[in-house]
Amino acid sequence: MKLAPFIPALLSLLLPTTFAAPTAAPYTDPKSGIKFNAFTDTATGYFFGIALPPTTGKDFIATIGGKGTGWSGVSLGGGMLNKLLIVAWPNGQSIVSSFRKTASYGSPPLSTTPTTIFHPIANGTYTNATHWTYTFLCSSCILADGTTFAASDTAPGFGWAVNPAAPDLKTNPAAQVKKHTAQGQVKVDFAAARSESFELWKGWALAGNGTRRWVA
Ligand code: HEM
Repeated sequence: MKLAPFIPALLSLLLPTTFAAPTAAPYTDPKSGIKFNAFTDTATGYFFGIALPPTTGKDFIATIGGKGTGWSGVSLGGGMLNKLLIVAWPNGQSIVSSFRKTASYGSPPLSTTPTTIFHPIANGTYTNATHWTYTFLCSSCILADGTTFAASDTAPGFGWAVNPAAPDLKTNPAAQVKKHTAQGQVKVDFAAARSESFELWKGWALAGNGTRRWVA
């Protein structure tokens, strides 16, 4: 069959555009002005970005979002199992978020890690005509137990997962979610996530009144 040798070459030409895997790139949220190193899955509209201080401590600022009404999730440790997961989805104009953790494949229950806290940043949390986004200070979220990236990491892998279908009980942060329709892992260069403005942005989060801890 004469055509066969050309098929791999053809595929290599087609695949990068057809199944472009997300890669991290600088992104500034247009409303809050917070600068992230962020990755986007263009097929679904999923995105996640992280902002860090000049030296990593226990906290980071993140933005997670998507298009439509489905859920977006991130694994702070790369894979799905035994890692600290964050899941969020829009509920009208507000965003419902939770920390999850599971040892087996299935809808992850709420995490029982006692320290992690979301402090939403109001001017970076909104739903508009094109997307929804949830921006928050993740306080005491960088853990030393292997469930998240480590403070000393320079370019760790984050896991991402998305499903365009909203959870059935979308007002409940503990709601079951349906399996992702797309997922993967991305390396995020922390040098491109660091900012001298981190303390200023953190102040916005702590000044807000929306502190929430959705753990079991
Ligand atoms: C009913 C809910 C869920 C089921 C049944 C499920 C199942 C699975 C399975 C079977 C895999 C292995 C790859 C595959 O076969 O597709 C996987 C990978 C993964 N899942 Fe889930 N999952 C669920 C929810 C979630 C949620 C809420 C998150 C939130 C972050 C998540 C994050 C991931 C990540 C990051 C990977 C790994 C991607 C990779 O290694 O490339 N999953 N999941």
